[in-house]
Parts: sequence; structure tokens; C-alpha cells
Amino acid sequence: MINIKYNFFMPKKIFAANWKMNKNIKEATKFINGFVETIHESSLQKSSTLTNKEIIICASFTLLPVLHELNKNHNYKIGAQNMFHEEQGAYTGEISPLHLKDVGCEYVIIGHSERRQYFGETNEIINIKIQSALKHNLIPIFCVGETLAQRENNETKKIITTQIQEGLKDIKLTTNDQRLVIAYEPIWAIGTGKVATAEQAQEVHALIHALTNKNISILYGGSVKPDNVKELMAQPDINGALVGGASLEIESFAKIII
Ligand code: PGA
Repeated sequence: MINIKYNFFMPKKIFAANWKMNKNIKEATKFINGFVETIHESSLQKSSTLTNKEIIICASFTLLPVLHELNKNHNYKIGAQNMFHEEQGAYTGEISPLHLKDVGCEYVIIGHSERRQYFGETNEIINIKIQSALKHNLIPIFCVGETLAQRENNETKKIITTQIQEGLKDIKLTTNDQRLVIAYEPIWAIGTGKVATAEQAQEVHALIHALTNKNISILYGGSVKPDNVKELMAQPDINGALVGGASLEIESFAKIII
């Protein structure tokens, strides 16, 4: 069992958009203006409330100040997609947790499989980044997931356990302000249209809850769409979604949330 002493329980379902390397300032502004209107209208129509849902937009660094400015009238949360662990110094091209705080970020995705695959991020690097994010009261959205070959070799449990144990090594949540979110994203389901079945996802989410703490929110990610989200969200250990492709369009992201 990993030593997570405290974690503020987040009963809200979390819907996080991962825009990846998409949208310029004009496109992001148009999206936010249309999105908040759509969400507002459809929640009124369906008389469903958004108070039990947390909406996070994780965008490119250049968009973060824009989202911060636009958010003065709205109520979504802002997330980055990566960060470096140091506060400042001679680290050309990197971005620090303080920079993220400066533009209103509350969340930061850490260890996304694309960072592991294309930028050589290891469990050890990810662990250092999570520690730094927590120290600065940013909420890490810590991503784990297996490849198709690993799943076919029946290694899913082993891979996820190692990623969780190494990624969260020596992590202690010591105050109620410190929170951690985990995202289970099977690599074979990311951007492929092949979503994990609700049973496959539930099984891994239950494992992660058993390895960590029942109070940690675990998001499912990987080809989440309006037509598969309900069944996934109905599983007892699935506490929200991390949405890539379907978060780029107002209509599909709104349908996933409402
Ligand atoms: P997808 O991406 O929804 O396009 O599969 C999810 C992610 O990579 O976070």
C-alpha cells in the first residue's frame, strides 16, 4: 500500500479535456465562449446540475493565460499538460510549477503516455514531477496505462502496479490542500477509437484504488465519446474521464459532460 495519508475526497465526477498540441488563441477563445453557453443551456434544459461535476481544460502553455482571462466569468478549472520539477534556473525550454500557478493552473497532467513514448519520461522522472507539483499545490493528473502487447501478454496488472508504485514512491499527501488524480489510459485505446470495455476499465480502476486509496479520483481515458461515456461512468471505481479527441469539439465534449 502506498503511503497516502490524506486525500481530500472528491465526490464530483471529473471531466478533463486534454487538447494536446491543438488550437491557437482564436480557436481556444471561440471554443470556450461556445462551450460555456452550450453547457449552461443544456444543463438548464435537462435540469441537471453541474455542481457535482468538475470541468478541467488542459491546454498548451500559450493558451493558459487566455483560458485564465476567459475564466473570470466562468467556472472551469485550468490544467497544463506537462511541467518541469524545478522552480527556476538554467533549464532552457522548460516550464516551472510557479509559471503554471502564475496563469491560474490548478491541475497538471503528468506522465501521459505520449510524454513517456516521445520524450523519454520514466516512472522516476514522473515521480519527481508529481512530488514537485504537490509541493506547489498543483493537482497532478498522473497517467498510467499498458500497451496492447502488454495486455495481450496478460501483463496489465504487473505494468500498472509498477507504474503506480514507482510513480508514487515516497508520495505523501500531508495536508487537505494536496490532492492527486490518477488517469488510467490504456495506450491501445488512445486516439484509436478502440475504447476499453467498461469491465476492462473497472478491473484496472479497482486495482489502482486497492494500490492507493479509495478516496483518490481515477479517470478513464482512451477514446471516450458521447456514446460510450455513460457505461464507463456507471462503474464504481471510475470517477471521471480524460478526453482527448472528443474534447476538441464543443458539441461532443458537452455531450460527454451533461
Ligand atoms: P483520446 O485521448 O480521447 O483521443 O483517445 C485521450 C488522451 O490521450 O488523454
